[in-house]
Amino acid sequence: MAEIVGAYFTSHVPAIGGAIHRGLQQDPYWKPFFDGFPPVQEWLAKVKPDVAIVFYNDHGLNFFLDKMPTFAVGAAAQYDNADEGWGLPLFKSFEGHLPLSWHIIESLVEDEFDITTCQKMLIDHALSIPFELAYPNADKWPTKLVPIAINTVQHPLPSAKRVLALGQAVNKAIQSWQGDERIVVIGTGGLSHQLDGERAGFINQDYDKFCMDNLSVDPAALTKDSVHEIVRLSGTQGVEILNWIGARGAMGEGVAAEIHRNYHIPISNTAAATMVLEPA
Ligand code: DHB
Ligand code: FE
Repeated sequence: MAEIVGAYFTSHVPAIGGAIHRGLQQDPYWKPFFDGFPPVQEWLAKVKPDVAIVFYNDHGLNFFLDKMPTFAVGAAAQYDNADEGWGLPLFKSFEGHLPLSWHIIESLVEDEFDITTCQKMLIDHALSIPFELAYPNADKWPTKLVPIAINTVQHPLPSAKRVLALGQAVNKAIQSWQGDERIVVIGTGGLSHQLDGERAGFINQDYDKFCMDNLSVDPAALTKDSVHEIVRLSGTQGVEILNWIGARGAMGEGVAAEIHRNYHIPISNTAAATMVLEPA
């Protein structure tokens, strides 16, 4: 039977890609952020996942405002990055896990989630940067990919409660999968940040702490607020916490241990956070 080895959560700011490209990991601005990743890298080297199920949001590279699925699941043999306009070098492609993608898609539809199935899917910084951080200097990503994109961009957004339920339904799909893969679940984005408007630069440390403290023990606490309230608390882009909530649901109910946590303000406009949880 497949095993969920744990969950890894991290922010996904594009500027991180530029810092990696320019080798700025020891630069005083970047060091406190990059110092949060050796424990993630060591943990991954120990648990050795061969598949990653990644909850993230597309930022306009694959979906634009003219077509915005609430939940989209990839079913492609390969996922490529393309120029997103941040001046970043192109990120490496991913090999898809097609049979697992289709199994998850069939199981989600059976459970009445009206998802969009994507047999072609470009992936952006929200997917690539967490891998660049987790596997620095890799020639090729060591895991196959099942991407799950959540609309955190164009309102109406799904509720946090619905996203947790989606994640739990993905967990149920994994439980009925016959393969023997070692699966890591990943949630990207957040924590509090707002890129635009009057509150540009908004950060809320108290709310971020609330999210990190409850993620393992009481994820339902993160679903009590409406998405509009979450935007108020965390910023227009802080609502990317939805991706963390989906991934938390997918790792299963019990958490044995919080393996690692790092929190650093700011990276660009973002309260940057990293966590690793192991399931019970
Ligand atoms: C920033 C943060 C994001 O989550 C993103 O997708 C783009 C930019 C930022 O803080 O610059
Ligand atoms: Fe983002």
